[in-house]
Amino acid sequence: MKIISNPLVLKQHLKDIDKTAGFVPTMGALHEGHIALIKHAKEENEVVVVSIFVNPTQFLAGEDLDKYPTKDEADKKICELAGVDILFFPNAQEIYSQDEVKICAPNVRGYVLEGATRPGHFSGVLRVVMKLLNIVSPTRAYFGKKDAQQLNLISLMVKQFFMSVEIVPVDIVRDSDGLALSSRNVYLSKEQRKEALKIPKSLYAASKLISKNILNTEKIKEEIYAILAPLETEYVEVLSRDFEVIDEVQIGNSIILVEVIVGETRLLDNIWL
Ligand code: PAJ
Repeated sequence: MKIISNPLVLKQHLKDIDKTAGFVPTMGALHEGHIALIKHAKEENEVVVVSIFVNPTQFLAGEDLDKYPTKDEADKKICELAGVDILFFPNAQEIYSQDEVKICAPNVRGYVLEGATRPGHFSGVLRVVMKLLNIVSPTRAYFGKKDAQQLNLISLMVKQFFMSVEIVPVDIVRDSDGLALSSRNVYLSKEQRKEALKIPKSLYAASKLISKNILNTEKIKEEIYAILAPLETEYVEVLSRDFEVIDEVQIGNSIILVEVIVGETRLLDNIWL
């Protein structure tokens, strides 16, 4: 496995080898969710590139940028074992400059749901993903359905900016207790983790309602809120896969999204129906 930190060196290297490339952008502290993305990339491309970069522009003032978990040595081992060909490990000075041309999240879709609780977050995500995709020029790039709004906005950016990359969505990987894997789960105490299990439980209950043909989105949201209580719930939404508000679940074209704060940890989960 090659480890490269300079964007231009990586760009030239990938140009020289001229192979189909699968790209998995991450912020490190890798877990099975990230590994699932890498496995998909390995199956579908000749070369796999993973980036590890804790992107400062997607953290708001007062968020966990300074304490975001880093596990550089373990991450390198994980990538090596997973068969990654190139690990891109840039630092912020190599990615950002002063007084930049900026890409911004769209006014509506970038500022609802997680974008409402974290205004500006998705502009930072799109800024870095645009840069990373331009550095790597991958054939395909892999993103988790866990961050459904991020995935939706990145797909939108790629389409609207006529970019030549296929965005591949990958299913959510969960722990054996049902909690969606996240680098931030390490912040949870034992008690908080138990509380957090209400999240997958509520989504499971919602899917059971839907299997009984109860499709009204307000009823489904009520059920979820009831199970999540008394947790601090930022939002529960049932939307189309294009993130439009719907009155009734449309099987094959809907997502239920939940954001909950447990202690000080923001947890996202969703289910694609
Ligand atoms: P990060 O949180 O490290 O996640 C990297 C990728 O792994 C994202 O596409 C995310 O959706 C996916 N992922 C995380 N947990 C997952 C799980 N349990 N199952 C499946 N996929 C999962 O998302 C980011 O980093 C950043 O915003 C980034 C896109 C790298 C831009 O900085």
